[in-house]
Amino acid sequence: MKKILVTGGSGMVGRNLLSHKESEKFDIIAPSHGVLDLTIKRDVDEYLADEMPDFIIHCAGLVGGIQANLKYPLEFLMENLDMGCNLLMSARKVGIKNVLALGSNCMYPKNIEEGLTEEMILKGELEESNEGYALAKITISKLCKIISNENKDYNYKMIVPCSLYGKWDKFSPESSHLIPAIIKKLNDARVNNEVNVEIWGDGLARREIMYAEDLADFIYFSLDRFNELPEIMNVGLGKDYSINELYSAVAKVVGYKGGFFHNLDRPVGMRKKLLNIKQLESFGWQSGTSLEQGLKLTNDFYLSNI
Ligand SMILES: NC(=O)c1ccc[n+]([C@@H]2O[C@H](COP(=O)([O-])OP(=O)(O)OC[C@H]3O[C@@H](n4cnc5c(N)ncnc54)[C@H](OP(=O)(O)O)[C@@H]3O)[C@@H](O)[C@H]2O)c1
Repeated sequence: MKKILVTGGSGMVGRNLLSHKESEKFDIIAPSHGVLDLTIKRDVDEYLADEMPDFIIHCAGLVGGIQANLKYPLEFLMENLDMGCNLLMSARKVGIKNVLALGSNCMYPKNIEEGLTEEMILKGELEESNEGYALAKITISKLCKIISNENKDYNYKMIVPCSLYGKWDKFSPESSHLIPAIIKKLNDARVNNEVNVEIWGDGLARREIMYAEDLADFIYFSLDRFNELPEIMNVGLGKDYSINELYSAVAKVVGYKGGFFHNLDRPVGMRKKLLNIKQLESFGWQSGTSLEQGLKLTNDFYLSNI
């Protein structure tokens, strides 16, 4: 039985990995942030030397929506950079051969209308609102590449998921991403009989969103064929939705019957960030949960847990 270290096991992606049926095939260790703070290099060195997992799946990170990124740019840059660099450099030092790190679609240049291919990283200016987070992820992807090139026995790779949502998402307005924010807002509006809900911006920006359990499914799929996984690969749906469409879809699931208005003074981030999924298709995987199913499962989770 292969031993896997999952970092960020208490987060949304981590919890989906740990609760996935495939997890039973592995011996998984998932130290909490309190047990192993990845920003402390010496602790990471000691932990990895003691545990020597066959694989590391690096899901830990300081992760948040546009508000959190704008408020804490330094933390988003430095904490994500420190976590990734410490983990990869310690793993290299003690001889752990397989690492899968999670990137983000923020790594791509802003305002590109066509599908984002993996070669486009570093080919243009980043979106300012999450530049620090993006720079940290880009550096970690390059570190993966350099370590793997230095010694061919090492497979350090990165996947670049589109935006995610699902069970164990964060629903508080300060730290939430788009979908949990909409779910909370429309549930509150329904309960309070509000007739009009604010949408930030004109609602025409587009987002590609995947149910997080599907990403967990992809990760287990990739572990079985890790040598064939490209050094960096997008994991998305290949289609996106306008923010207006997402509000309508959530309203249907939540049962919110009121209207919407647009606040054009609020930031919206990138207009479009659709991933090109040619490599993913060749790798032989596709996401299985429809938008309606995913929203329903996430809303059920919200109603019973939050
Ligand atoms: N969510 C998305 O839409 C999305 C999209 C694309 C890519 N990703 C990537 O997927 C990964 C997982 O995201 P997520 O949504 O699951 O994030 P999340 O729910 O915020 O979870 C982050 C995890 O990292 C842990 N963590 C934070 N700082 C740490 C530290 N210094 N040492 C050890 N652990 C630490 C957190 O533990 P505590 O809570 O105890 O601090 C938590 O378990 C991230 O790399 C993210 O960039 C996410």
